[in-house]
Amino acid sequence: MSKTIVALDFSSKEEVVDFLSQFDEPIYVKVGMELTYACGLDIIKTIKDMGHHIFLDLKLHDIPNTVKGGMKNLAKLGVDIVNVHAAGGIPMMQAAIEGLEEGAQGGKRPLCIAVTLLTSISKEMMNEQLGVQGEVLDTVCHYAQNAKAARLDGVVCSVHEAKAIHEACGDDFLTVTPGIRLASDSVGDQKRVATPAFAKEQGCDYIVVGRSITKSENPKETYCEIEEMMK
Ligand code: C5P
Repeated sequence: MSKTIVALDFSSKEEVVDFLSQFDEPIYVKVGMELTYACGLDIIKTIKDMGHHIFLDLKLHDIPNTVKGGMKNLAKLGVDIVNVHAAGGIPMMQAAIEGLEEGAQGGKRPLCIAVTLLTSISKEMMNEQLGVQGEVLDTVCHYAQNAKAARLDGVVCSVHEAKAIHEACGDDFLTVTPGIRLASDSVGDQKRVATPAFAKEQGCDYIVVGRSITKSENPKETYCEIEEMMK
């Protein structure tokens, strides 16, 4: 199974089909709000028909009853991974799992992971803007433990936090890490970034890579290089 999840941050079906037609083997892709709001959830069927695995990254965050209803419908799409914001609290995350179980196709629900703290948030932003005191790592581990208590399968976190999360929540608890940059890339809007090699060293289960692959001159070659680094 591939370790790299490619973030399809495109705004049209044509760009998606164009991009994916470079890959003969199934890959793991992430469909987020940019693509979903442009194409609707029909894009899921298009990608599934091409044989690829899907992490549907819509980061649900609402009252428990609404999240449960939303997840019930997302489970019917047959995607592989969905997510919520851990900041929604334990009851909301429990409701997400209940919704997924109710909507699951063929008895198997999608994996559900929680966004701990966005990788675009620095310690200063967390302390001053979000009003959460202390260190990023403590907040992230606390959110991860809440996610585990709510029966979630793992978290989205930065590479720098993956080791501490596995220590706190166990090796089976998935760590999915965006904020990946190749040594030659610019950081862009991300704050807590790391290379694929460092992600491997830290025991990350999956890395999410967007612009480093999609904006590369040769996306397939860059994808294969990154997969190689994660082996
Ligand atoms: O282009 P880049 O590699 O920065 O893309 C990262 C992807 O991961 C984006 O789709 C972004 O929404 C997502 N993401 C993130 N940080 C999180 C959760 C998701 O960057 N904490």
